[in-house]
Amino acid sequence: MSSFVMYGTLLNLFLLLIVLQFGSNNGSPTQQTLDLQNPNFFNPKLPPRTLSSNKKFEGSSDLVNLRYHMGPVLSSPINIYLIWYGKWAPSQQLLIKDFLLSVSTFNHRAAPSPSVAEWWSTVSLYTDQTGANISRSVLIAGEYSDRKYSQGTHLTRLSIQDVIAEAVKSKPFTVDHKKGIYLVLTSVDVTMQDFCRAVCGFHYFTFASKVGYTLPYAWVGNSGKQCPEVCAYPFAVPGYMGGSGAAALKSPNGDVGVDGMISVIGHELAELSSNPLVNAWYAGEDPVAPTEIGDLCEGLYGTGGGGGYMGQVMKDRDGRTYNLNGRRGRKFLVQWIWSPILKACAGPNAMD
Ligand SMILES: *[C@@H]1O[C@H](CO)[C@@H](O)[C@H](O)[C@H]1NC(C)=O
Repeated sequence: MSSFVMYGTLLNLFLLLIVLQFGSNNGSPTQQTLDLQNPNFFNPKLPPRTLSSNKKFEGSSDLVNLRYHMGPVLSSPINIYLIWYGKWAPSQQLLIKDFLLSVSTFNHRAAPSPSVAEWWSTVSLYTDQTGANISRSVLIAGEYSDRKYSQGTHLTRLSIQDVIAEAVKSKPFTVDHKKGIYLVLTSVDVTMQDFCRAVCGFHYFTFASKVGYTLPYAWVGNSGKQCPEVCAYPFAVPGYMGGSGAAALKSPNGDVGVDGMISVIGHELAELSSNPLVNAWYAGEDPVAPTEIGDLCEGLYGTGGGGGYMGQVMKDRDGRTYNLNGRRGRKFLVQWIWSPILKACAGPNAMD
């Protein structure tokens, strides 16, 4: 039904009223309210994404053997150091920073429910062996711009550590080996080893021989031009899907590449916090290819997801899809996270 919902002209509104009137005779609950201020809920059908290697866990907690391996989690207030690699528009930087800063925004007036902070409350359920939870406080402690592509426009898993080494050598940007995590964000023109083919983002820690310290870091790239159908999914879908009825969704902030990055940043931030040295929370026997708390819920954004559906999410007046509210009126679409309590994927926009 939601495909009929179009706003803009009175005529459309009139047609909509007719459709709703007609629909209500069928007794379908989604059609009984017409409140343009409130979001529409819908559950789009989507093809499984290319990288959905973890779909086998979907909806089946019996198969999930998420275990704690005695390593640390990020239990102190988390200081994020942002490294902007390549060319970034200030508006794109602002959008990503608003997402990160929304993690600690508990004020319901600043970010109404379902909020990014509520989404993070699933992450903060994870503890270390002393019983300390992952921190609910996340702040941006420093920013560094590598506008001149110090390591070129093609990066590898190793050369990304040189990017971080370069950044921590610069003045206001420090080596914060107690509370710091380093987030390297590459612009749309930067290619990365395995980007698109196998990864949209990853996290690991730096080697002392390269950076001087063991620092947890994550990398996420802007896929807007390279492979949006893989990494900015579901705001872009593969071309072959064209005729099958699965259409790309309108992204919450009108920037397919950056809106797509935000879900990947959320995924990596959750995993970095629960498995910063790759010896804390993961499923599977292989620490080289751990299945972590974000991997378990890839592609799930709401209740009723799985089997080709992304779950109940919201659509605003302009048809933009989202499931979380952030600070300054921002909206985001971010995947759910595995809850150690529910033993299932969880998010604050759950309907039940
Ligand atoms: C800390 O983790 C425990 C165990 O998962 C949970 O019961 C508790 O609610 C968490 N506290 C916070 C503040 O998230």
